[in-house]
Amino acid sequence: MCGIVGYIGKRDVAPLLLEGLQRLEYRGYDSAGIAIHAGGKATGLKMVKAKGRVRDLEAKVPARFKGTTGIAHTRWATHGAPSDENAHPHMSGDDKVAVVHNGIIDNASDLRAKLSADGVEFLSETDTEVLTHLVARAQADTLEEKVREALRHVEGTYGIAVLHADFDDRIVVARNGSPVVLGIGEKEMFVASDVAALVSHTRQVVTLDDGEMATIKADDYRTYTTEGSRTTASPTTVEWEAESYDMGGHDTYMHKEIFEQPDAVDRVLRGRIDDRFSTVHLGGLNLDAHDARRVRRVKILGCGTSYHAGMIGAQMIEELARIPADAEPASEFRYRNPVVDPDTLYIAVSQSGETYDVLAAVQELKRKGARVLGVVNVVGSAIAREADAGVYVHAGPEVCVVSTKCFTNTTVAFGLLALHLGRIRDLSVSDGKRIIAGLRKLPGQISEILKQEDEIKKIAKGYAEARSMLFIGRVRGYPVAREASLKLKEVSYIHAEAYPASELKHGPLALIEPALPTVAIVPDDDLLEKNRAALEEIKARSGKILAVAHQEQEKADQTIVVPKNEDELDPILMGIPLQLLAYHTALALGRDIDKPRNLAKSVTVE
Ligand code: G6P
Repeated sequence: MCGIVGYIGKRDVAPLLLEGLQRLEYRGYDSAGIAIHAGGKATGLKMVKAKGRVRDLEAKVPARFKGTTGIAHTRWATHGAPSDENAHPHMSGDDKVAVVHNGIIDNASDLRAKLSADGVEFLSETDTEVLTHLVARAQADTLEEKVREALRHVEGTYGIAVLHADFDDRIVVARNGSPVVLGIGEKEMFVASDVAALVSHTRQVVTLDDGEMATIKADDYRTYTTEGSRTTASPTTVEWEAESYDMGGHDTYMHKEIFEQPDAVDRVLRGRIDDRFSTVHLGGLNLDAHDARRVRRVKILGCGTSYHAGMIGAQMIEELARIPADAEPASEFRYRNPVVDPDTLYIAVSQSGETYDVLAAVQELKRKGARVLGVVNVVGSAIAREADAGVYVHAGPEVCVVSTKCFTNTTVAFGLLALHLGRIRDLSVSDGKRIIAGLRKLPGQISEILKQEDEIKKIAKGYAEARSMLFIGRVRGYPVAREASLKLKEVSYIHAEAYPASELKHGPLALIEPALPTVAIVPDDDLLEKNRAALEEIKARSGKILAVAHQEQEKADQTIVVPKNEDELDPILMGIPLQLLAYHTALALGRDIDKPRNLAKSVTVE
């Protein structure tokens, strides 16, 4: 969702900020804007905003829009429709203060009413504009104090960057529930809500904590709490290189990321396997054998694709560690006043580590004294920091809005965790060896699947006309069916529904007809015959079937054959051809694959 970029240094700021905004486009947005110090306190700030894409903003930036300090933003509408007026930055009436803001100010309407009664004229419908006026009206002498004074009035979440015409040597930023990262350069400083906007300039970053503020100057920065006491924030080096954000010769990020999966899976396994004890080492887990044995249940929480990865994870944990485990959407969990049990291990799953519902669930669990692990991709992200411990999934940056490689790496990380818990409990050495051998086969097997792209592309053409599709799977295959159905609807906009194959006769059979194709997940496991029976039922009603299976399925019209791994690990592989199916169906329909309509990469608001 929304993105922030800021710069202070010696370079021409507008092109730098526009480039930063382009790097944040993947998060999803509907308008963009930029404000700069035009030089000299008397001239005030200059601003340009545009509804639409960053390129629309770029087209509006005048040639004489010069300065060396500025802030910029991509907005995802919450308060007020997408428009030029509602785009950020928001500027005070005297052009002295500009604010960009991620998050939501909960008491914005009260504050707006009070400010309006005092004669303040509002130019937008946003919650952020309230903050701008509060900063502009603050009586304090320094910009830091003005921002602090303004923040005292607001309730809600924010990541903000503030520019003031009278303080042209600095940008002041603050964080509460929405990420703010400082990027340290050579006599220049950057600020952003996401390292993606910084890594082409510097990999030295400081991530602010909630309740922290910072002043950045060209050659210096300092951090302090919202109350004003100094904090020590030491820079860390971002692992991800600028090139990992490039398209690397592919036409879309989705395609690139699907094809990165063999390497990504190799990374999540690297250095973790312990052949001597047929187990794995997970450095950040912080769960000794004694604690692990006392876990009586596992509850996995996530949203979207991460929730589906959690469903696969729950199944692996139950099978390999024999601990009752289930997954639930974090958004549902946090609103149903759940019973929080001290013997349950809670696991929060998130690619970005920023999804608001997941973060809020983690905070609620911690407040109630629960132990929470994070299974997260983005190092140092909010959920990773909030969780007591965790496992990084090392998928590398994922830019396409829909998740592919991170889903796969998360399921592999769950395989590692399940094996670890299993070997502390009742999983035998020989089963441990069997699973390790299976894990090691994954990268090669994924490469085998990806070689079938041309055939899958042909199959996809046949589905582009479908108005709706049914995805079915049983037990291990059901979360695979769910994720494949989600992928198809996200990128192709074809309606798709996933159902447990065992539930067919309790409803969905009524839908079966030649115009409703079914995709069936048919692994060679102890449920093979039951799955075949479901195919028979569909065939008998003239339904068209595409099977994803370990061998050709006679009742299916087409079968995509995937390599067999261990039964428990098969779900990791069986969804991969269906990522390609979704991709090529969307391509045939001419969809905006990397940025599907109405969707955002990271949903940082409720
Ligand atoms: C958004 C994205 C999905 C993603 C979900 C959870 O809805 O569009 O692709 O699965 O958020 O994101 P997370 O970063 O927590 O995994």
